[in-house]
Amino acid sequence: MKNRGERIKALPPVGSAMVGFCFDMYGTLCDTSSVRTRLGETLDVPERLVAAVDETWRRKQLQYSYQSAQMNDYEPFWDVTAHALDYALAAYDLDPSAEKREQILVAYDNLDPFPGAAEALDRVSAAGHEVVVLSNGNPAMLERLAENAGLLPHLDGILSAHDVRTFKPDPAVYEHAAESLGLSLGDCRLVSSNAWDIAGAGNAGMATTWVNRSRDPPESIGARPDHTVRSLSAVGESN
Ligand code: LAC
Repeated sequence: MKNRGERIKALPPVGSAMVGFCFDMYGTLCDTSSVRTRLGETLDVPERLVAAVDETWRRKQLQYSYQSAQMNDYEPFWDVTAHALDYALAAYDLDPSAEKREQILVAYDNLDPFPGAAEALDRVSAAGHEVVVLSNGNPAMLERLAENAGLLPHLDGILSAHDVRTFKPDPAVYEHAAESLGLSLGDCRLVSSNAWDIAGAGNAGMATTWVNRSRDPPESIGARPDHTVRSLSAVGESN
């Protein structure tokens, strides 16, 4: 596949099979709660309300992606994110100007990477594996974020659900990733903090590493994670 990081990939060490490591972006490599700073500055409301809007925004963003896939009514994740923001603002009777709304939305291009994100990508890459993002984000928003978060040079590529006009956890997205990498699903590993993503990738036949930062129980439907870590700093240590 295209080598976005302009890095020539060395062959995997003898005796170790190459795996396609697919990292989820939002909530896994980058922290979606970093939008709180922008929400606070722009809306000028108490911190408790900022947290509530943020929580509703993220929850609706995910819900709208599932609904959009289920209804066979695909729209790019940027638009899903914008619609979810509109819902969250309306839910708390907030009506910022169009300019302020836009300022809030573009916070999604400037999320902070989680500590150890670049190091995790490098560690997995140094072990001879292919390292890509696999996200529901559409390519343009993923490229902007990967660049702004300083992750782009650490990646071999960016794979997006947009290519198959549906969203994870639809198996079509994981299948598309394996196909793009030229690997079988079983030779790909999804690394995600989103429990629903882990359940879906496992169901589709990928190996999975769950970055379970908040010590949640696994989803009770879909596949169980086959490896669980507490932070990105443990990714690539033994899987
Ligand atoms: C991603 C989000 C939705 O796919 O977790 O990056």
